[in-house]
Amino acid sequence: MKKRRTLLSGIQPSGDLLLGSYFGAIKNWAELAGEYDCFFFIADMHAITVRQNPADLRRRTLQQLAQYIACGIDPETCALFVQSHVSEHAELAWALGCCTMFGELQRMTQFKEKSAKNSENVNAGLFTYPVLMAADILLYQADLVPVGEDQKQHLELTRDIAQRFNGLCGDVFTIPEPYIPKTGARIMSLQDPGNKMSKSDSAAGASVYLLDSPDAVMRAFRRAVTDSGSDIRYDPAGKPGVSNLMQIYSAATGKSFGEIEVEFSGKGYGDFKTAVGETVTELLRPIRERTEDLLKNKDYLASIYKSGAAKASERARRTLGKVYKKLGFAEKA
Ligand code: TYM
Repeated sequence: MKKRRTLLSGIQPSGDLLLGSYFGAIKNWAELAGEYDCFFFIADMHAITVRQNPADLRRRTLQQLAQYIACGIDPETCALFVQSHVSEHAELAWALGCCTMFGELQRMTQFKEKSAKNSENVNAGLFTYPVLMAADILLYQADLVPVGEDQKQHLELTRDIAQRFNGLCGDVFTIPEPYIPKTGARIMSLQDPGNKMSKSDSAAGASVYLLDSPDAVMRAFRRAVTDSGSDIRYDPAGKPGVSNLMQIYSAATGKSFGEIEVEFSGKGYGDFKTAVGETVTELLRPIRERTEDLLKNKDYLASIYKSGAAKASERARRTLGKVYKKLGFAEKA
C-alpha cells in the first residue's frame, strides 16, 4: 500500500484567531486533511518570542484547540497538539540551528518587521524563530505545509536547511512544499489595506477575529476603508480596499473576482460591504457556537491534546533519533 503523505501546520496563540489565519491557513487544513496524515499544533513556543501574559497564553491555547475542531479539523483522524508538549521541537531546533547561517536569519523579513515593532525586546528567540519553525516541519517529515503568504520565506529557509542537512549527513528529511491558497493568502487590515491583517493591530475594526460577535463583524465591514471611485473591481494597486474585500468574499464563497464584479455591477461600496459582512457573519456563526460549546468541556479538550501529543511524539522521536545518530551523538544507554 502506498504511504500516505503528511500535512502539517501551526498557529501561534499570541492573540485570538484571525479571519486572515482562517482563510490563509485553517480553511485549507480542513479541506486537505482527508488525503493526508495530519499534524496540527498550537505554536506556544513561538508565541513567547514576544512577551505574553501567562494566564492569557494558557487560555488562548485551549481556545485555539477548540477553534481548530470548530473549523472542521477532526481530532479523531488528525493529531492536534500543543508544541511545548513535544520536547523534540526544541531539541531538533538546536541541531538545525547549528546548520543555519547567521546571514540567512538576518534576511528574514518577519524578523526585521517584528524587531522594529518590538525594539525594546529584540531577543535571540525572535532571531532564531525560523529555525524552530523548520524543526516543527522537519520533525514530522511533512510533505505539504498550508500557510498564508507571509510564511513563504520561512518555508523556503526550511527547505534550504533540510537540503543542507541531507547533503551533509545523508537523506534524513523530506523536503516540504508550501501550500498557499489562490485567494485569501494575504488578507489586509480593513482600516489600512496597505498592511496585513494582524493579531497585534489595535486599531478599532482593523482585524476580524473568529469569535467576534455578529455586531462586531458587521461594524468592522461597514467601516472598512474603501477607495476613490465607486465600482467594485479587482485592482489591488489602484483599489486596495475594495480588492481586499473581494479577496475575503471570494475566499468565503468560492466565487471568482469576475463573478463578483458581475454580481455587484451597478451597486455601490455600501451594498458590497454589507454583503461581505453578512457572508462572514454567517461563516463565523457555527464556528463561534461550536467553539463556545467545546470550551465547556475542558476534560474533552485535554484528552484531545494529550492523545495528539502522544501521536506526534512517536513520529518526532523517530526523526530526532535519526538526526542524533547522523550527527554522531553517542547512543543513550
Ligand atoms: P501565525 O500564527 O502568524 O499565523 C498563522 C497562519 O495564518 C496565516 N496568516 C494569514 N493568512 C492570510 N492573511 C493574513 N492576514 C494572515 N495572517 C496570518 C499565516 O501565514 C499562518 O499560516 N510561524 C507561524 C506559525 C508556525 C508554523 C510552524 C506554521 C510555527 N511553526 C510550522 C507552519 C508550520 C506563524 O507565526 O503564523
